[in-house]
Amino acid sequence: RWPDLVQIKEVGPRDGLQNEKKIISTADKVNWINMLSESGVKEIEYSSFVHPKWVPALSDAHEVGRKIKRKPGVKYSALVPNQKGLELALEAGIDGASVFMSASESHNKKNINKSIDETFPVLKEVIEEAKKAGKHVTGYVSTVFDCPYEGRIDPDEVIRVCDRLLEFGVDDLSLGDTIGTAVPSQVGQLLEPILKRYPKEKVIMHFHDTRGMAIANIMTSMDYGITRFDSSVGGLGGCPYAPGAAGNVATNDVLYLLHGLGVKTGIDEKKFQEAALYIQNKLGKVLPSKSLAYTTAQL
Ligand code: HMG
Ligand code: MG
Repeated sequence: RWPDLVQIKEVGPRDGLQNEKKIISTADKVNWINMLSESGVKEIEYSSFVHPKWVPALSDAHEVGRKIKRKPGVKYSALVPNQKGLELALEAGIDGASVFMSASESHNKKNINKSIDETFPVLKEVIEEAKKAGKHVTGYVSTVFDCPYEGRIDPDEVIRVCDRLLEFGVDDLSLGDTIGTAVPSQVGQLLEPILKRYPKEKVIMHFHDTRGMAIANIMTSMDYGITRFDSSVGGLGGCPYAPGAAGNVATNDVLYLLHGLGVKTGIDEKKFQEAALYIQNKLGKVLPSKSLAYTTAQL
Protein backbone atom coordinates (compact mmCIF):
# COMPACT_ATOMS: atom_id res chain seq x y z
CA ARG A 1 0.00 0.00 0.00
CA TRP A 2 2.81 2.46 0.78
CA PRO A 3 5.44 3.65 -1.68
CA ASP A 4 8.98 2.25 -1.25
CA LEU A 5 10.52 5.70 -1.32
CA VAL A 6 9.31 9.22 -0.56
CA GLN A 7 11.18 12.40 -1.55
CA ILE A 8 11.18 15.13 1.05
CA LYS A 9 12.10 18.70 0.31
CA GLU A 10 13.23 20.49 3.46
CA VAL A 11 11.76 24.00 3.32
CA GLY A 12 12.55 25.09 6.90
CA PRO A 13 15.33 27.54 5.97
CA ARG A 14 12.87 29.33 3.65
CA ASP A 15 9.21 28.72 4.57
CA GLY A 16 10.16 28.18 8.21
CA LEU A 17 12.40 31.15 8.88
CA GLN A 18 10.43 33.61 6.72
CA ASN A 19 7.77 33.80 9.39
CA GLU A 20 9.86 33.64 12.55
CA LYS A 21 10.13 36.91 14.44
CA LYS A 22 13.63 36.22 15.68
CA ILE A 23 16.28 36.92 13.06
CA ILE A 24 18.83 34.12 12.84
CA SER A 25 22.36 35.20 11.99
CA THR A 26 23.78 34.27 8.61
CA ALA A 27 26.50 32.15 10.24
CA ASP A 28 23.90 30.16 12.22
CA LYS A 29 21.76 29.64 9.11
CA VAL A 30 24.80 28.36 7.22
CA ASN A 31 25.77 25.94 10.04
CA TRP A 32 22.20 24.71 10.25
CA ILE A 33 21.81 24.17 6.49
CA ASN A 34 25.13 22.28 6.50
CA MET A 35 23.78 20.02 9.26
CA LEU A 36 20.63 19.40 7.21
CA SER A 37 22.79 18.48 4.20
CA GLU A 38 24.66 15.95 6.36
CA SER A 39 21.40 14.35 7.56
CA GLY A 40 20.69 12.87 4.13
CA VAL A 41 18.03 15.37 2.98
CA LYS A 42 18.19 15.40 -0.83
CA GLU A 43 16.69 18.83 -1.43
CA ILE A 44 16.85 21.99 0.65
CA GLU A 45 15.08 25.28 -0.11
CA TYR A 46 17.79 27.40 1.45
CA SER A 47 16.27 30.91 1.23
CA SER A 48 14.16 33.34 -0.73
CA PHE A 49 15.13 36.09 -3.18
CA VAL A 50 12.00 38.19 -2.60
CA HIS A 51 12.08 41.88 -1.71
CA PRO A 52 13.93 42.21 1.64
CA LYS A 53 11.28 44.64 2.89
CA TRP A 54 8.60 42.00 2.44
CA VAL A 55 10.54 39.23 4.21
CA PRO A 56 13.34 40.79 6.29
CA ALA A 57 14.24 37.48 7.97
CA LEU A 58 15.65 36.24 4.66
CA SER A 59 17.39 39.41 3.48
CA ASP A 60 20.73 37.58 3.62
CA ALA A 61 19.70 35.00 0.98
CA HIS A 62 22.63 35.91 -1.25
CA GLU A 63 25.23 35.48 1.49
CA VAL A 64 23.66 32.24 2.69
CA GLY A 65 23.77 30.88 -0.87
CA ARG A 66 27.42 31.83 -1.19
CA LYS A 67 28.49 30.37 2.16
CA ILE A 68 26.70 27.03 2.48
CA LYS A 69 28.73 23.91 1.85
CA ARG A 70 27.23 22.17 -1.18
CA LYS A 71 27.09 18.47 -0.60
CA PRO A 72 27.19 16.43 -3.82
CA GLY A 73 23.82 14.78 -4.45
CA VAL A 74 21.88 17.46 -2.57
CA LYS A 75 19.81 19.93 -4.57
CA TYR A 76 19.80 23.51 -3.27
CA SER A 77 16.83 25.60 -4.37
CA ALA A 78 15.43 29.01 -3.52
CA LEU A 79 12.21 30.96 -3.90
CA VAL A 80 12.19 33.56 -6.69
CA PRO A 81 9.32 35.97 -7.41
CA ASN A 82 10.58 37.80 -10.51
CA GLN A 83 13.55 38.48 -12.82
CA LYS A 84 15.41 40.48 -10.20
CA GLY A 85 15.09 37.63 -7.71
CA LEU A 86 16.21 35.13 -10.32
CA GLU A 87 19.32 37.17 -11.21
CA LEU A 88 20.35 37.33 -7.56
CA ALA A 89 19.61 33.64 -7.02
CA LEU A 90 21.69 32.63 -10.04
CA GLU A 91 24.58 34.70 -8.73
CA ALA A 92 24.31 33.14 -5.27
CA GLY A 93 24.01 29.64 -6.74
CA ILE A 94 20.89 27.52 -7.10
CA ASP A 95 20.16 24.11 -8.56
CA GLY A 96 16.47 24.85 -8.63
CA ALA A 97 14.25 27.93 -8.73
CA SER A 98 10.83 27.88 -7.08
CA VAL A 99 8.34 30.34 -8.54
CA PHE A 100 5.09 30.95 -6.70
CA MET A 101 1.59 32.31 -7.03
CA SER A 102 -1.86 31.63 -5.64
CA ALA A 103 -4.98 29.99 -6.97
CA SER A 104 -6.98 32.71 -5.20
CA GLU A 105 -7.00 36.26 -6.49
CA SER A 106 -6.91 38.00 -3.09
CA HIS A 107 -4.08 35.94 -1.63
CA ASN A 108 -2.05 36.45 -4.80
CA LYS A 109 -2.55 40.21 -4.56
CA LYS A 110 -1.59 40.36 -0.87
CA ASN A 111 1.40 38.08 -1.31
CA ILE A 112 2.97 39.40 -4.51
CA ASN A 113 1.15 42.65 -5.21
CA LYS A 114 -0.34 41.55 -8.54
CA SER A 115 -3.51 39.97 -9.89
CA ILE A 116 -3.30 36.38 -11.14
CA ASP A 117 -3.39 37.53 -14.77
CA GLU A 118 -0.66 40.13 -14.15
CA THR A 119 1.50 37.44 -12.53
CA PHE A 120 1.48 35.04 -15.50
CA PRO A 121 3.78 37.07 -17.81
CA VAL A 122 6.22 37.74 -14.94
CA LEU A 123 6.51 34.06 -14.10
CA LYS A 124 6.63 33.02 -17.77
CA GLU A 125 9.79 35.08 -18.22
CA VAL A 126 11.36 33.84 -14.97
CA ILE A 127 10.61 30.20 -15.82
CA GLU A 128 12.02 30.55 -19.34
CA GLU A 129 15.20 32.27 -18.08
CA ALA A 130 15.72 29.70 -15.33
CA LYS A 131 15.28 26.84 -17.81
CA LYS A 132 17.75 28.52 -20.20
CA ALA A 133 20.23 28.64 -17.32
CA GLY A 134 19.75 24.87 -16.92
CA LYS A 135 17.85 25.03 -13.63
CA HIS A 136 15.07 22.82 -12.36
CA VAL A 137 11.91 24.90 -11.87
CA THR A 138 9.14 24.15 -9.41
CA GLY A 139 5.87 26.06 -9.53
CA TYR A 140 4.25 26.58 -6.15
CA VAL A 141 0.51 27.13 -6.21
CA SER A 142 -0.80 28.50 -2.91
CA THR A 143 -4.30 28.36 -1.38
CA VAL A 144 -5.24 25.24 -3.34
CA PHE A 145 -7.93 24.28 -0.81
CA ASP A 146 -8.92 27.45 1.03
CA CYS A 147 -7.95 31.10 0.95
CA PRO A 148 -7.87 33.20 4.15
CA TYR A 149 -9.82 35.95 2.34
CA GLU A 150 -12.08 34.07 -0.10
CA GLY A 151 -12.77 30.74 1.58
CA ARG A 152 -13.07 27.50 -0.42
CA ILE A 153 -11.20 27.42 -3.72
CA ASP A 154 -12.59 25.36 -6.57
CA PRO A 155 -10.18 22.73 -8.03
CA ASP A 156 -10.85 24.31 -11.46
CA GLU A 157 -9.17 27.52 -10.24
CA VAL A 158 -6.13 25.50 -9.16
CA ILE A 159 -6.01 23.70 -12.51
CA ARG A 160 -6.21 27.00 -14.39
CA VAL A 161 -3.00 28.16 -12.68
CA CYS A 162 -1.25 24.76 -12.91
CA ASP A 163 -1.97 24.53 -16.66
CA ARG A 164 -0.33 27.89 -17.30
CA LEU A 165 2.73 27.15 -15.15
CA LEU A 166 3.26 23.84 -16.93
CA GLU A 167 2.78 25.54 -20.30
CA PHE A 168 5.50 28.06 -19.30
CA GLY A 169 7.85 25.15 -18.56
CA VAL A 170 7.89 24.31 -14.84
CA ASP A 171 9.22 20.81 -14.18
CA ASP A 172 6.82 20.13 -11.35
CA LEU A 173 4.10 21.66 -9.19
CA SER A 174 3.95 22.05 -5.43
CA LEU A 175 0.34 22.39 -4.26
CA GLY A 176 0.11 24.43 -1.07
CA ASP A 177 -2.40 24.11 1.73
CA THR A 178 -1.17 27.54 2.76
CA ILE A 179 -3.36 27.96 5.83
CA GLY A 180 -3.63 24.29 6.77
CA THR A 181 -7.39 23.86 6.49
CA ALA A 182 -7.76 20.77 4.33
CA VAL A 183 -9.09 17.44 5.56
CA PRO A 184 -8.40 14.19 3.65
CA SER A 185 -11.65 14.29 1.65
CA GLN A 186 -10.64 17.69 0.23
CA VAL A 187 -7.23 16.31 -0.68
CA GLY A 188 -8.99 13.56 -2.65
CA GLN A 189 -11.34 16.06 -4.32
CA LEU A 190 -8.35 18.01 -5.59
CA LEU A 191 -6.02 15.13 -6.44
CA GLU A 192 -8.64 13.27 -8.49
CA PRO A 193 -8.90 15.90 -11.26
CA ILE A 194 -5.22 16.87 -10.89
CA LEU A 195 -3.96 13.32 -11.43
CA LYS A 196 -6.29 12.81 -14.40
CA ARG A 197 -4.47 15.75 -16.00
CA TYR A 198 -0.82 15.52 -14.88
CA PRO A 199 1.51 12.59 -14.08
CA LYS A 200 1.82 11.98 -10.33
CA GLU A 201 5.62 12.41 -10.50
CA LYS A 202 5.04 16.10 -11.27
CA VAL A 203 2.94 16.69 -8.16
CA ILE A 204 4.36 17.65 -4.76
CA MET A 205 2.09 18.28 -1.76
CA HIS A 206 2.91 21.16 0.59
CA PHE A 207 0.87 20.97 3.78
CA HIS A 208 0.84 23.51 6.58
CA ASP A 209 -0.25 22.05 9.90
CA THR A 210 -2.44 24.80 11.37
CA ARG A 211 -5.14 22.36 12.50
CA GLY A 212 -3.06 19.21 12.90
CA MET A 213 -4.41 17.60 9.71
CA ALA A 214 -1.17 17.47 7.72
CA ILE A 215 -0.13 13.90 8.59
CA ALA A 216 -3.61 12.59 7.71
CA ASN A 217 -3.43 14.55 4.45
CA ILE A 218 -0.04 13.05 3.63
CA MET A 219 -1.45 9.56 4.18
CA THR A 220 -4.33 10.36 1.82
CA SER A 221 -1.95 11.81 -0.77
CA MET A 222 0.11 8.59 -0.64
CA ASP A 223 -3.10 6.62 -1.23
CA TYR A 224 -3.42 8.62 -4.44
CA GLY A 225 0.15 7.71 -5.40
CA ILE A 226 1.90 10.95 -4.41
CA THR A 227 5.49 10.38 -3.24
CA ARG A 228 6.84 13.94 -2.93
CA PHE A 229 6.25 16.23 0.04
CA ASP A 230 7.55 19.54 1.39
CA SER A 231 8.08 19.82 5.14
CA SER A 232 10.05 21.92 7.60
CA VAL A 233 12.32 21.14 10.52
CA GLY A 234 10.33 20.95 13.74
CA GLY A 235 7.28 22.44 11.98
CA LEU A 236 8.61 25.98 12.13
CA GLY A 237 7.20 28.66 9.88
CA GLY A 238 3.98 29.96 8.35
CA CYS A 239 3.07 32.49 5.68
CA PRO A 240 3.45 36.22 6.42
CA TYR A 241 0.47 37.00 4.16
CA ALA A 242 -1.87 34.36 5.59
CA PRO A 243 -2.63 35.54 9.14
CA GLY A 244 -2.83 32.80 11.76
CA ALA A 245 -1.43 30.08 9.53
CA ALA A 246 0.98 27.72 11.25
CA GLY A 247 4.22 26.26 9.94
CA ASN A 248 4.68 23.42 7.52
CA VAL A 249 4.15 19.88 8.63
CA ALA A 250 7.21 18.98 10.72
CA THR A 251 9.79 16.92 8.86
CA ASN A 252 10.50 15.14 12.15
CA ASP A 253 6.90 13.90 12.35
CA VAL A 254 6.85 12.94 8.66
CA LEU A 255 10.05 10.91 9.16
CA TYR A 256 8.55 9.16 12.18
CA LEU A 257 5.49 8.24 10.13
CA LEU A 258 7.31 7.14 6.98
CA HIS A 259 10.09 5.18 8.64
CA GLY A 260 7.50 3.52 10.88
CA LEU A 261 5.60 2.44 7.78
CA GLY A 262 8.83 1.09 6.27
CA VAL A 263 9.01 3.84 3.62
CA LYS A 264 12.55 4.97 2.80
CA THR A 265 13.54 8.66 2.74
CA GLY A 266 17.35 8.48 2.79
CA ILE A 267 17.33 10.72 5.89
CA ASP A 268 19.08 9.75 9.12
CA GLU A 269 16.56 10.57 11.85
CA LYS A 270 19.16 11.05 14.54
CA LYS A 271 21.23 13.52 12.53
CA PHE A 272 18.04 15.28 11.51
CA GLN A 273 16.96 15.65 15.16
CA GLU A 274 20.33 17.26 15.91
CA ALA A 275 19.72 19.83 13.18
CA ALA A 276 16.23 20.44 14.61
CA LEU A 277 17.58 20.93 18.14
CA TYR A 278 20.20 23.32 16.79
CA ILE A 279 17.64 25.69 15.26
CA GLN A 280 15.26 25.26 18.20
CA ASN A 281 18.02 26.50 20.52
CA LYS A 282 18.87 29.39 18.21
CA LEU A 283 15.22 30.46 18.02
CA GLY A 284 14.88 30.07 21.78
CA LYS A 285 11.43 28.53 21.60
CA VAL A 286 9.89 25.10 21.51
CA LEU A 287 9.00 24.08 17.96
CA PRO A 288 5.60 22.47 17.31
CA SER A 289 6.78 18.98 16.26
CA LYS A 290 5.50 16.33 18.66
CA SER A 291 8.21 13.83 17.89
CA LEU A 292 10.86 16.53 18.40
CA ALA A 293 9.28 17.44 21.76
CA TYR A 294 9.43 13.79 22.81
CA THR A 295 13.08 13.45 21.79
CA THR A 296 13.93 16.68 23.60
CA ALA A 297 12.26 15.40 26.76
CA GLN A 298 14.46 12.27 26.68
CA LEU A 299 17.70 14.27 26.64
P1 HMG B 1 6.50 45.11 -5.81
O1 HMG B 1 6.67 46.20 -4.82
O2 HMG B 1 5.21 45.04 -6.56
O3 HMG B 1 7.74 45.10 -6.81
O4 HMG B 1 6.74 43.73 -5.06
P2 HMG B 1 8.11 45.99 -8.04
O5 HMG B 1 8.42 45.07 -9.16
O6 HMG B 1 7.08 47.06 -8.23
O7 HMG B 1 9.47 46.68 -7.55
C1 HMG B 1 9.52 47.62 -6.47
C2 HMG B 1 10.96 47.75 -5.96
O8 HMG B 1 11.37 46.49 -5.42
C3 HMG B 1 11.98 48.07 -7.07
O9 HMG B 1 13.00 48.85 -6.46
C4 HMG B 1 12.55 46.72 -7.42
O10 HMG B 1 13.86 46.80 -7.93
C5 HMG B 1 12.56 46.05 -6.06
P3 HMG B 1 13.11 50.44 -6.72
O11 HMG B 1 13.23 50.57 -8.21
O12 HMG B 1 11.80 50.98 -6.19
O13 HMG B 1 14.32 50.80 -5.92
N1 HMG B 1 12.46 44.56 -6.19
C6 HMG B 1 13.29 43.68 -5.58
N2 HMG B 1 14.34 43.83 -4.75
C7 HMG B 1 14.98 42.70 -4.34
N3 HMG B 1 14.59 41.46 -4.69
C8 HMG B 1 13.55 41.27 -5.53
C9 HMG B 1 12.86 42.42 -5.99
N4 HMG B 1 11.79 42.56 -6.80
C10 HMG B 1 11.58 43.88 -6.91
N5 HMG B 1 13.19 40.03 -5.89
C11 HMG B 1 7.39 41.41 -5.04
C12 HMG B 1 6.63 42.50 -5.78
C13 HMG B 1 7.01 40.08 -5.65
C14 HMG B 1 8.88 41.65 -5.19
C15 HMG B 1 7.01 41.48 -3.54
O14 HMG B 1 5.61 41.44 -3.46
C16 HMG B 1 7.56 40.36 -2.72
O15 HMG B 1 8.77 40.30 -2.51
N6 HMG B 1 6.70 39.44 -2.26
C17 HMG B 1 7.16 38.27 -1.54
C18 HMG B 1 6.16 37.79 -0.54
C19 HMG B 1 6.66 36.52 0.09
O16 HMG B 1 7.83 36.24 0.13
N7 HMG B 1 5.70 35.70 0.59
C20 HMG B 1 6.03 34.44 1.19
C21 HMG B 1 6.48 33.41 0.22
S1 HMG B 1 5.15 32.53 -0.59
C22 HMG B 1 4.72 31.28 0.52
O17 HMG B 1 5.21 31.25 1.62
C23 HMG B 1 3.77 30.21 0.06
C24 HMG B 1 4.46 28.86 -0.23
O18 HMG B 1 5.16 28.40 0.91
C25 HMG B 1 3.42 27.81 -0.65
C26 HMG B 1 2.23 27.69 0.32
O19 HMG B 1 2.46 27.47 1.53
O20 HMG B 1 1.11 27.84 -0.17
C27 HMG B 1 5.47 29.03 -1.38
MG1 MG C 1 4.29 27.36 2.55
